[in-house]
Amino acid sequence: MDHRLKEEKYRQLLPQLASVIQAESDSIANMANISACLKETFDFWWVGFYRVLAHGDSKELVLGPFQGPLACTRIKYGRGVCGTAWKERRTVIVPDVELFPGHIACSSASRSEIVVPILQEDEVVAVLDIDSRFLNTFDEVDRLYLEKLAGMIRL
Ligand code: SME
Repeated sequence: MDHRLKEEKYRQLLPQLASVIQAESDSIANMANISACLKETFDFWWVGFYRVLAHGDSKELVLGPFQGPLACTRIKYGRGVCGTAWKERRTVIVPDVELFPGHIACSSASRSEIVVPILQEDEVVAVLDIDSRFLNTFDEVDRLYLEKLAGMIRL
């Protein structure tokens, strides 16, 4: 997608998502609508959330609201792109998933990916994961606006 068109779409979408989030206190409902709006706006392959939840004595990422095909349900700390974004507490952009060591392939159609951590009181509480069926889909524009969006989400 053209760089400026993409930026324009994010500029229009973010205030709409801010209203959605302000109008509803339930985070599952909000993550569901955010997934739907991102998928509809950009025709991404898969958009969804994984929440950091307790698992015995440790924690792992557990699948939350999403749009797209069936996905793996649990991801361990440091594993795959999602577990890496959680561990390193930073957005991870993967231009070609085949070149990312340890990438977890939920769908063979996915070619590139971005994962943005959602922090609360300095802890990663969830990640927003977006997959594209094209190589090199995500860049600094996506990072900028998706990090702004992540900053609005309260779990
Ligand atoms: N590819 C991700 C797993 C989640 S799916 O893409 C929906 C990863 O490597 O963490």
